[in-house]
Amino acid sequence: MTLIKPNPFVGDLIPYVPGKPVEELERELGISGAVKIASNENPLGPSPLAEKAVTEAVHNLNRYPDGDAFYLKEKLSNKLGIKPETLIFGNGSNDVIDIAARTFMKPGDEAIFGEYAFIVYPIVTQAVGAKAVISPMPDYTHNLRDMHSRITKKTKIIFIANPNNPTGTMVGQDEFEWFIENVPEDILVLVDEAYFEYVDDEDYPNSLEYHDNGKSIITVRTFSKIYGLAGLRLGYGIAHEDIISNMQRVRHPFNSNSLSQIGAIAALDDAEHIERTKTINREGLHYVTQELEKLNIPYAPSYTNFVLIDLGEDPMATYNELLKEGVIVRPVMGYGLKTHLRVTIGTQEENEKFVNGIKKVLGK
Ligand SMILES: Cc1ncc(COP(=O)(O)O)c(C=O)c1O
Repeated sequence: MTLIKPNPFVGDLIPYVPGKPVEELERELGISGAVKIASNENPLGPSPLAEKAVTEAVHNLNRYPDGDAFYLKEKLSNKLGIKPETLIFGNGSNDVIDIAARTFMKPGDEAIFGEYAFIVYPIVTQAVGAKAVISPMPDYTHNLRDMHSRITKKTKIIFIANPNNPTGTMVGQDEFEWFIENVPEDILVLVDEAYFEYVDDEDYPNSLEYHDNGKSIITVRTFSKIYGLAGLRLGYGIAHEDIISNMQRVRHPFNSNSLSQIGAIAALDDAEHIERTKTINREGLHYVTQELEKLNIPYAPSYTNFVLIDLGEDPMATYNELLKEGVIVRPVMGYGLKTHLRVTIGTQEENEKFVNGIKKVLGK
């Protein structure tokens, strides 16, 4: 058989490996009560308002969604104080990132991102035949001066995840401001703020405040994380309307489904759910990092809802032993982090299950 071959850009792409589903682990090991703290999801679930709105909307599933998400666009643009034309929605923020890559890069162009930056950046870059230019992250944090030094005439997109996944680290205000001042106007700076609602630090730069300075910036956010709607798939990008109108040409029709639009509109009204999630996360992060310190397990400073831990040895044995304890965390070998695991902050009960599990597995 001589089946069709993929294009050469796709040929050596390594597929994205998601966190292991709870049901799969319980089925494989014949256990119950397992916890998944592997995909940076909201452990409290979605907002009850979103759940209700989605449930009531299912009878309309025979209809195509509003491809332009009019009501959601109106609601979100009012909330953010921006023009509706500056918004684009996607099937998760991954879709928005992919649309940006397909809109602005062609084979031979270059994209710059950090060594341990979110893994979707290398995937979308390679898929369009562009070249990945990697900036080292020795302290797990993006180094924007180094990234700037790698700009060439071929650079089209610079990806900055702030905070970054899987490291949990953040770029501060001064460095971000310096970078935006110094980046050429015609390079797209994609600031991925999937976790921005979780950040408490005063030094955190809100990239939306830098949109009116003539630079090509797109801020990308999602309903998958603090809003607890990962399963519905909805993300969005905010940029100058010329940037957005070019991306609209590439966007698939109906790429945000009707339930996600309805769920997101309702979730935006549930400030209490967001505050409760933030509180649980702040307390959980404090608890988990304190316990890690007691156990002498180094971790990267986290500004978000997960923490990257360094076991100092091949982490797969620990990962597999934790699975037997009913605790699913996330290996991050695919990022070149060969001695690390990423642990999402869960409910207090889930956090304790992780702490007790790792104590047992490491014999501490
Ligand atoms: C930094 C970052 N960006 C984007 C995403 C994509 O999220 P989604 O496509 O669910 O919006 C994730 C998900 O893990 C992420 O960590």
